Formats: sequence, C-alpha cells, structure tokens
Amino acid sequence: MEKQQHQPKKIIVIYTSYRRGNSERLGDAFSKGAEAAGHLIEKIYLRDQTLQYCTGCEACEKTGHCVLNDDGEKIARKMVQADVVALVTPVYFGNIPGPLKTLFDRMNAVYRQPYCFRKVVVFATADQNRPEMFDGVWQSVESWLLAFPEAELAERIGVGGVNRRGEIEGHPALRQAEALGRRL
Ligand SMILES: Cc1cc2nc3c(=O)[nH]c(=O)nc-3n(C[C@H](O)[C@H](O)[C@H](O)COP(=O)(O)O)c2cc1C
Repeated sequence: MEKQQHQPKKIIVIYTSYRRGNSERLGDAFSKGAEAAGHLIEKIYLRDQTLQYCTGCEACEKTGHCVLNDDGEKIARKMVQADVVALVTPVYFGNIPGPLKTLFDRMNAVYRQPYCFRKVVVFATADQNRPEMFDGVWQSVESWLLAFPEAELAERIGVGGVNRRGEIEGHPALRQAEALGRRL
C-alpha cells in the first residue's frame, strides 16, 4: 500500500452487470487505484444478491423499512453509509440495466433518513462508440440523486466500442479509472 496522503474513505462499489465483462474490468481498475490510495473498498455484485422489485406499497414511508425480505434494504443502507458510491454498469438500450433501476427504487426505504455519501462516481461501458449513448445512464443517476441533494455525480467515465466480454482489455480508460481511484 502507498503512503497515506489523506483520510481513508469508505467506498462501496456496485457492479450491476450479470456477466463478468467490460464494466466489471473498468470498476476493478477504479477499485485497484482506490485501494492503493488506502481507501476501504466494499464490492457488491448485484448478480449475487436477491433483489425484488419495489411493490409501491409505501409502508417504508411510515416505518423506514422495506417489507420485502431480501438484500435490497441491506445494500441501500450500505450505500447511504459509505463516503463514496461507485456504480459500475453496462448500457442497456441507452440506459441503466434493470437491476440497478430496481436498486434505486428500493432506496425509497432510506432516502428520508440521514445519509453520509456525498460523491457518486459512475463507470459505464457500451457497444456503440458515441458519447450520447451514455446520456440515459448519467440522467438516470442524476434523477435518483434528486432524492439525495447533498450528494453529486462527481465523476463519470463512459467507454464505448466495447461489446464482447473482455473487449475492454488494454483500453486507456482502465488507466484513467485507476487514476481516478487514486485521487479520490
Ligand atoms: C440487453 C442489452 C442491451 C444493450 N444495449 C446497448 C445500447 O443501447 N447501446 C450500446 O452501445 N450497447 C448496448 N449493449 C451492449 C453493452 O452495453 C456492452 O456490451 C457492454 O460493454 C456490456 O458490459 P458488461 O460486459 O459489463 O456486461 C447492450 C447489451 C445488452 C445485453
């Protein structure tokens, strides 16, 4: 580990793809940089979690807890208790994939309560190499953050032109993501 320059931050890294592919490689580069800088990383893979859809019952608005007995509320609480939330995602039809949207919806149980995180960083990969392909992702994250006005979408890296699993290998964005982790 490198010499500590600053207070270590608690960073939760949410991997949303159900395959071990391009976005995961990008998120790992970020995590590697952040770990080297002395931060505390917790990785959560949505594919390993049980995450049911929000039913809209709104019981959480009275109780502060979700009625669904799965991993949703646990992940939501870890997110709000972190200093930094990193979202690692493929682009699906110009937007975030379903599991991440489901996670955002499940945060209805926690958004009225105090939260620690102030920064969100997003890493996204897509087949098409056009910057506008990521607009839906950035917009979805911004819309979710309307519920957390003290937090901001601080950094974003979108990598286009990567489709096959592992096609991102050797891409300069990996170094960029690692550098971002180091300078958080
Ligand atoms: C259901 C689905 C929808 C997709 N939609 C888009 C899209 O709208 N635009 C795009 O450029 N790539 C799209 N892709 C390609 C993925 O974004 C791309 O392969 C990405 O690198 C996958 O990341 P992963 O390997 O981490 O899963 C789609 C892939 C799938 C499976």
